Amino acid sequence: MPTQTPEARALGLPDDFLWGASTSAFQVEGAAGEDGRGPSVWDTFCRLKGRVDNGDTGDVACDHYHRYAEDVALMRDLGVGAYRFSISWPRVLPRGRGAINEKGLDFYDRLIDRLLEAGIEPWACLYHWDFPQALHDLGGWSRRDSAGWFADYATLCARRYGDRVKRWATFNEFSVFTLFGYAFGWGAPSIADRAEHLKVIHHVNLAHGAGVDVLRALVPNASIGAVHSYQPCRPEDDAPENVEGAALFNELWNLTFPDPQILSHYPPRIAQAIEPYVQAGDMARIGRPMDWFGVNHYAPVYAKAEPGMVWGCGFGSPPPDMPRTNIGWPYQPDAFREALLDLTGRYRLPIYVTENGYGTKAAETPDERGMINDTERLDYLRACIGSMAEAHKAGADVRGYFVWSLLDNFEWGGGYGTRFGIVHVDFATQKRTLKESAKWYARLIGGRVA
Ligand code: FCB
Repeated sequence: MPTQTPEARALGLPDDFLWGASTSAFQVEGAAGEDGRGPSVWDTFCRLKGRVDNGDTGDVACDHYHRYAEDVALMRDLGVGAYRFSISWPRVLPRGRGAINEKGLDFYDRLIDRLLEAGIEPWACLYHWDFPQALHDLGGWSRRDSAGWFADYATLCARRYGDRVKRWATFNEFSVFTLFGYAFGWGAPSIADRAEHLKVIHHVNLAHGAGVDVLRALVPNASIGAVHSYQPCRPEDDAPENVEGAALFNELWNLTFPDPQILSHYPPRIAQAIEPYVQAGDMARIGRPMDWFGVNHYAPVYAKAEPGMVWGCGFGSPPPDMPRTNIGWPYQPDAFREALLDLTGRYRLPIYVTENGYGTKAAETPDERGMINDTERLDYLRACIGSMAEAHKAGADVRGYFVWSLLDNFEWGGGYGTRFGIVHVDFATQKRTLKESAKWYARLIGGRVA
């Protein structure tokens, strides 16, 4: 029996194509000091002066910790088949290791049970950037034994939720949190040091491999993946130094994690630099068999040589005639097709689009009829989903799509002033209002809304 709407079928997507929505713990949960949760490096980062727009923090966020049932009901009405959320490491292990926080574990029990009751498949991600501050204080990802800390945390989660959660991702966007956090200094924990960055890359890769082994051993019928940011990377112009800068940037952004994890080697420029940290047997520890490839895609990246930066390369400018969103991201939905085809060719794994969406600094407040006409987001999502369907026709093995994001939320350095939700959140009242993009998405995927 076909499970797709006529609109989705017209795109040529298979009957079992999965439609979902994504969030992450730090961005939506709030309840930062409640029920024994420990601090994460992002709690600390938010308190550094001038680092997050408007001085925003994750203290309350979307209050999903208390409002999860309402949010699950919303997803059910939208027709969402799967919810990708992350588990907050410091909520379940407040000091990152050692004492377990039962109340924190209970929260995810409630969330998972509610999702299952609503017929929504839980997709749990173990790490979406909210690293326990206590572990960072011990040396964090710079220490090789951090892989063991992650494996112990994964063991706790697998034992607790593995009876009900079958879809697991180890990390979200390895390259982004390591580059921004340890090379550019733009995100937590705000370090800019090449040697630290290299160590962190390798240890996070080892943690991933150890996490996959734990999930495989402890979760019956687990389907295990990892979530990568993949944005086609182009030089800002054809000056030789920028072409080389973009090649290095491409390795750092797109290849440094999936290549060792799936192909068992680092890309060439990184391989050389990382050698001092690689021990015998490491590549086999990292390259564990995977069931799917999670890709987050937003826009192509333009790069250039930038001698002042730790790696000598950085973000360049897109061509002047390329449209941009009001948060400055290149607007080119076609790049999605290219990304999906590249990934299919390179890694040969089933692909799930684990994030794609449109951010704006517009307030998007409801009009007098209570409507939020987020036409630009709707057009962008429609174009991206069309581009994904073309990629599928051309042979990309894409099996599902999760919109980023279900809710407006804490957009890292952009705070609450940058909105990615298909559902509007009034952060003063926590009221949720469907934007027109949410209604459109619901019509596409067979929801009950409008
Ligand atoms: C991705 C992150 C996600 C969200 C979107 C807009 O890099 O994984 O948490 O912030 O960007």
